[in-house]
Amino acid sequence: MSAAEVLLERIHQDGEIKGQIVKVDQFLNHMVDPVLVHLLGDDIAARFSNSSITKILTAETSGIMLAQAVALKLEVPFVYAKKKRPITMPEYFAAASYSFTKQESTTLYVSREVLDQEDQVLFVDDFFAKGSTLKAIEEILSQAGATLVGAAVIINKSQRRDIEAILTLDDLHATVSN
Ligand code: G4P
Repeated sequence: MSAAEVLLERIHQDGEIKGQIVKVDQFLNHMVDPVLVHLLGDDIAARFSNSSITKILTAETSGIMLAQAVALKLEVPFVYAKKKRPITMPEYFAAASYSFTKQESTTLYVSREVLDQEDQVLFVDDFFAKGSTLKAIEEILSQAGATLVGAAVIINKSQRRDIEAILTLDDLHATVSN
């Protein structure tokens, strides 16, 4: 079975699709099935195996497990943008992101020590909804002079087809109505 088929089966078994919201907190973003995350990470990594990626970048919190799985496969480090700046991070890149799902604004911080202009970056996350997280990440990459090679998520809820995804919301709705 492909990664998409395994995920689809799992969503139908342990998750829920409620209009625009997909409940995955029994296996992806609260309780986490590491075997599933690694299967999804391998699938995403394979799509970028010829891209000379130097770092994977995600945002706290739910993107971290996928970022690790993709990074492990591509054998590169991963960085997660933090939502609170620790005092150990005096020099940083930062950008604000508004979450429509959570209806709050957050600032993402990345230390200047972990990103530079040589970096070829793949952004990964669990969901792509309105794109506000990616927009903030793009702003951070631009501050660092780094290059965004691509963006990949587990579930793409938008109509943007330049975002690599294991499943789209349309895929999910198609299986529910069938
Ligand atoms: P955007 O970045 O693409 O604009 O998306 P948006 O702000 O709308 O939503 C991003 C946040 O909401 C993410 O969490 C993401 O995990 C969560 N999210 C979006 N759609 C869904 C969904 O259908 N189901 C579930 N379960 N979560 C969803 P976050 O704010 O980054 O926080 P964290 O949970 O990673 O800490």
